[in-house]
Amino acid sequence: MFETLSLTAPDAIISLIKLAAADTNPDKIDLGVGIYQNEMGATPVMTSVKKAEKLWAAEETSKKYIGIHGNPQFNQLFAELMFGKNSAAMTSGRLAMAQSAGGSGALRLGGELIKLANSKARIWVSTPTWANHQPLLGSTGLEIKPYPYYNKETQDIEFDAMCTTLRADAVAGDVVLLHGCCHNPTGADLNKEQWGVVAEILPEKNLVPFVDLAYAGLGDGLEEDAYGLRLLADKCPELILAASCSKNFGLYRERTGLVCALAKTPKDAELCHGQIGLTMRKMISMPPDHGAALVAKILNTPELRLEWMTELEDMRQRMSGLRTTLADALSVQGAQQMARALAAQKGMFSLLPISPEQVLKLRSEHSVYLLNSGRINIAGARDETIDRLSNCILAVL
Ligand SMILES: Cc1ncc(COP(=O)(O)O)c(C=O)c1O
Repeated sequence: MFETLSLTAPDAIISLIKLAAADTNPDKIDLGVGIYQNEMGATPVMTSVKKAEKLWAAEETSKKYIGIHGNPQFNQLFAELMFGKNSAAMTSGRLAMAQSAGGSGALRLGGELIKLANSKARIWVSTPTWANHQPLLGSTGLEIKPYPYYNKETQDIEFDAMCTTLRADAVAGDVVLLHGCCHNPTGADLNKEQWGVVAEILPEKNLVPFVDLAYAGLGDGLEEDAYGLRLLADKCPELILAASCSKNFGLYRERTGLVCALAKTPKDAELCHGQIGLTMRKMISMPPDHGAALVAKILNTPELRLEWMTELEDMRQRMSGLRTTLADALSVQGAQQMARALAAQKGMFSLLPISPEQVLKLRSEHSVYLLNSGRINIAGARDETIDRLSNCILAVL
């Protein structure tokens, strides 16, 4: 039977990680991997998470199944963090929630819910977008359509083109996937005014926002990064959220996330709740527990919550500081446009205006590793490597 299978192409990011690991140049710079790294190049367990694990290990009395919607306390506390505790989304009874296997699981559950509610809906995604959006959402069978978002050469958001496409080509019932903050792969986020325009177009055209919030807290701060989500939740009658704890709690392998459906009425929310549960049952039966139990513990314990927020802010500031230092170095050497874009962009990623050939040159001649698309993870840099990085980028331009 298995001989009929076709060979899968090697994963580009995994291949890049292997290449970087095999490079013996002590000055190599690896900006390829999509996770946070500290100044030592490590991704340690957060101290607040370690403390929560200790408390949880002492308290946990059973490993019996958690239930198809996961840990209700996690769902409530994490949703409050995203939407705001006293928001209409949290208090109106219109929100259906379920724990998911990471942000990816939330995206897939959200996609399946859309398919069940309206199998003709198309999902509009930004060009470019995270490489896994198409496979995760496309495997529901729904049609995926692109809207213009970012011009790699000018390093600007193509906001007018985005709005024109959504206004002209999206039809009532379609869904628009929006990166809540720290757009992957560009780092280019909508500003408040632009969010305002999107929040007018969507309800006007009867389009449903699907917000992917995988980096909350790593752009401008927790409250600031939820701005777009909260505005859309206020202005649109329906909304889907896929949120992840992988980056902001450093819980990557624990697969911790949340899917929410904000419905028009509490009755509709109940329908969503039931269908999300049924979908979970069909896919994996029950979500994993450990990560969600830790997040619930942290958010529900004032000292741990404060410690976590401080750690998150440290990560955010480290990346923002690296962006400024790299921008300053590039600007001194005449690459002002790139400098301006890098400094203004948010979170881990930016998309450099360089070709795959230039990326290869950076790799083979300078031991600088980034994705062929030109995406860098700024967390892979360090203060002491920024000058070299800036020189290398300019050398291949
Ligand atoms: C934009 C975006 N959404 C969602 C995810 C999902 O993350 P996870 O499934 O690891 O929580 C990622 C991870 O890289 C991402 O970049």
